Amino acid sequence: MSATSVVVGGSSGIGLAIARRRTERGDHVVVTSRSAERAATAAAELPGPAHGIALDLTAPSSIAEVFAGTERVDNLVVTATERSGTTVAELDTDAALRAVNSKVVGSLELARVLHPRFSPHASVVLFGGVAKDRPTPESTVATVPTQAVSGMVATLAVQLAPHRVNAVHPGVVGDSPRWADVTDHPSIARTPIGRLVTVAEVVDATEFLLTNTGVNGQDLHVDGGTLLI
Ligand SMILES: NC(=O)c1ccc[n+]([C@@H]2O[C@H](COP(=O)([O-])OP(=O)(O)OC[C@H]3O[C@@H](n4cnc5c(N)ncnc54)[C@H](OP(=O)(O)O)[C@@H]3O)[C@@H](O)[C@H]2O)c1
Repeated sequence: MSATSVVVGGSSGIGLAIARRRTERGDHVVVTSRSAERAATAAAELPGPAHGIALDLTAPSSIAEVFAGTERVDNLVVTATERSGTTVAELDTDAALRAVNSKVVGSLELARVLHPRFSPHASVVLFGGVAKDRPTPESTVATVPTQAVSGMVATLAVQLAPHRVNAVHPGVVGDSPRWADVTDHPSIARTPIGRLVTVAEVVDATEFLLTNTGVNGQDLHVDGGTLLI
C-alpha cells in the first residue's frame, strides 16, 4: 500500500514542489487550495497519483468535514499561509485574525482531526520563516504567527508522541513564485552564501525532516546563514 502525504498549501510554490517530490517517491498525495479548481489543477500536474481538495484555513471549523474521506495519513506538511505583511500602524484586525486563524488555529485543528488517522511512523512538518527571527516593520502580522510555529512544534511533539513534529523556516526563497521576478533582493547582501535559498533546498530540508526518524521537535532554518549577519 502506498503512503499518503497530505500537503496543505500544495497548490503552489514550495508546497507544490514538496507534493511533486512525494509523488516521485511513490506516495499518493493530497494537495489543498482554497479553490477546488486550483487544487484539482495542481494534483493533475503531479507525476503520480494525487487528488486535490478545497480547504480554507481561515475557517478551521471546516477542517473535519473537508478531510472526512481521508482514511490514513503518513506525512502531513503544512505550507499554507495567508500573505499578511503590514505594520502595526496599518493593522487590519480582520486580516490579522485571518493570518493567525489560518497559521495557528488551522494547524492545531489539522493535528486534532488527522492525528487519529496517522500511520505508526507518520510525522508532521509545519512551515514558518525568517520573519520569526528577523522582523521587518511590514512583517508584524507574519512574525507573530511564525513565532507560534515554534510553540506548536514544541507542544505537538509532546502531545502527538511518538509521532514526530518539526518545522522548516525558510529564508527568502529566490525561485519561489513570490520572489522569482525580484532581482537583487536586499536579503542577498545579508546572506553568507551570497544568494537566496532555492525551492529545491527547502524541499530537501522537508524530506530530511519527514524521513529522519530521530529528528523531533526541531526548528530547521534553511536561510543560507542569514541569521548570523
Ligand atoms: N517564498 C518564500 O520566500 C518564503 C520565505 C519564508 C517562509 N515561507 C513560507 O513557506 C510556505 C510556503 O510559501 P510559498 O511562497 O510557497 O507560498 P505560496 O506560493 O503563496 O503558496 C501558499 C499556499 O497556501 C495556500 N493558502 C493561502 N491562504 C490559505 C488559506 N487561508 N487556507 C488554506 N490555504 C491557503 C495557497 O492556496 P491557494 O492560493 O491556491 O488557495 C497556496 O497553496 C509559507 O508558509 C511561507 O510563509 C516562504
